[in-house]
Amino acid sequence: MALMTRRNALILGGIGVAGMAIGGTVFAATRPGVGSGSGDPGGGQDFLEPAELRSTNGRLAATLTPARQQVTLAGRDVSALSYNGGVPGPTLRVRAGDTLSVSLRNGLTDPSNLHVHGLHVSPENNGDNMFVSVAAGDTFDYEYVLPANHPPGVYWYHPHAHGSVADQVFGGLYGAIIVEDPVPIAASRERVLVISDITFTGVGDIAAATAHEIMSGREGELVLVNGQLNPTLAARPGERERWRIVNACVSRYLRLRLDGQRMSLLAIDSGRFESAQEMEEIVLAPGNRADLLVTVSAGTAVLRSLAFDRGASGGMMGGGSGTPVDVDLATLTVAGKAGEALEQIPTQPVPRDLRATTVSARRELVFAMGMGGGMGGGMMSATINGRVFDASRIDTTVQFDSVEEWLLTNTSTLDHPLHLHVWPMQIVEEGGQPVRTVKWQDVVNVPANGSVRVRVAFEDFSGRSVYHCHILDHEDSGMMGVIDAYPPWV
Ligand code: C2O
Ligand code: CU
Ligand code: CU
Repeated sequence: MALMTRRNALILGGIGVAGMAIGGTVFAATRPGVGSGSGDPGGGQDFLEPAELRSTNGRLAATLTPARQQVTLAGRDVSALSYNGGVPGPTLRVRAGDTLSVSLRNGLTDPSNLHVHGLHVSPENNGDNMFVSVAAGDTFDYEYVLPANHPPGVYWYHPHAHGSVADQVFGGLYGAIIVEDPVPIAASRERVLVISDITFTGVGDIAAATAHEIMSGREGELVLVNGQLNPTLAARPGERERWRIVNACVSRYLRLRLDGQRMSLLAIDSGRFESAQEMEEIVLAPGNRADLLVTVSAGTAVLRSLAFDRGASGGMMGGGSGTPVDVDLATLTVAGKAGEALEQIPTQPVPRDLRATTVSARRELVFAMGMGGGMGGGMMSATINGRVFDASRIDTTVQFDSVEEWLLTNTSTLDHPLHLHVWPMQIVEEGGQPVRTVKWQDVVNVPANGSVRVRVAFEDFSGRSVYHCHILDHEDSGMMGVIDAYPPWV
C-alpha cells in the first residue's frame, strides 16, 4: 500500500510544529498511539459527563445551537463544532408519551438540520424530517411526539444535511437521548458514554478527510469518551452501574470489552431483551447503542475497543500499515468497601416477534461500491440498488400498516451498516442462517460480500423518510434511499 496515511503525514508534518505554542497551549503534534493511555496528555482524567436536560410534566423544550467553538477535547483546546458549547451536546432525557421540542439555531457557516436517531416518531413536517434544511443563521423548531408505548433506551441526535453529515459529526455534533424506563432498573449509578473519534491537525483544527478516507469511511486517530481520552471511573466492589453507550463515530466499529468485570446487556438500540444477556464482547457499528449493566468487582479494568475487520480498505485506516489497533477507552478502578447490594435485574416485557407474521412484500437492497462513472474517472460510487441518493426521487414505496421482509445484500469488500429511520428492524437471518433470538436494531451491519434478512412493521407513522449506510462518508457519497410509507387513505 503506497498511500501515505494521515498518521504518517501528521508525524512528518508534525516535526516542524511539535512544541509550538498556540494560545498558551502546547500541542503535541505527533501521537505515538491511539488512546494508548500513558503519554497521552489528555488521558487519566476523571470521567466527565455531558450536560443533561430532563423533561418535566411530559415536556422538554430545548435549544440546540450548533456552532464552531473553542472546546477542550482529548485534553487540548481546539476549535471544534459543538452543540451549546459542549462535545458531546447535552443529554436529553425524556419518557414515552413526552413531547420533545428542539429549537435548532444554526450558528454554523453551512446548512445543517437535526435527526433524532432511533426515535419512533413522525418523519413529517417539523418532526424527524430529513428533508428540512436549516440555513446558516436560521432557526427551525422541531417537535417530536413520542408514542405512549415508545421503547425505553438509548438514542442520539446528530445533523443530517446530506453531503456534510460526516464532516459535521466528525467535527463534534452529537449528543445522547435517553428514554427512561417505565419501571426503573436498580443501579448504583448511571453513566452516559458517547464514543466518538476525531483527528486534529498540528495546529488544533479538525483534519479534513482525504478522498481515500472518504471511500473507506474515515476513522479518527483519537477515540474519545465524552470528549476525553481514556478517562478514569471509580466504583466500589459489588456495585452495579448502568452504562448508556453511543457509537457516534463516523465509520469506526467498536468491539467493546471490559475484561475482569461483568457486562449484562439490556439492549442494543431500542431492542430491549426479555432478560439481560451476559456478554464478553459487544460490537457496535456506527450509530448503534448499548444499554448495559456493569457489575463490578475489585481491581482495575480497562474498557477497550478491539481491532475490528470491516473489510478490505477498512483495516488500513486503523493502523496505517494494514494492522488494526486496539484502543483503550476508559479505565475503571474498583476499590474501597463493598457497595450496597441491589435487587436482581428485573425481567423485561417479552419483545415482539415478527417471524410468524404474514409478510405483505419482500424486497432486496443491494449495497455496492465501485470506481468510475464520474467525469474524470476515478470517482467513487456508493449505491443502493445501483442508484445514488436523490432527495426528489422515491426509491421504496411501502404500505402503511404492513410488514415487509428485506434482504440486504452487500456486493462490496467493505461492511455497510444499514440504518432505517422511524421503523426499527428485526433481524431474522444472518449469512443465510436463521437468527434464534429476537433482535431489534435500527442499525444492522451487512458484512462485506454478505447478506442479512430483516422484517419491518411500517406502522404508527406514515410519510417520507430515508435509509442509508451509517458509515457517514458513504451516506454523504450517496448510499441512501428515500422511503415513503403511504397511508391507505391516499
Ligand atoms: Cu444516525 Cu440517518 O442517521
Ligand atoms: Cu437515524
Ligand atoms: Cu457503507
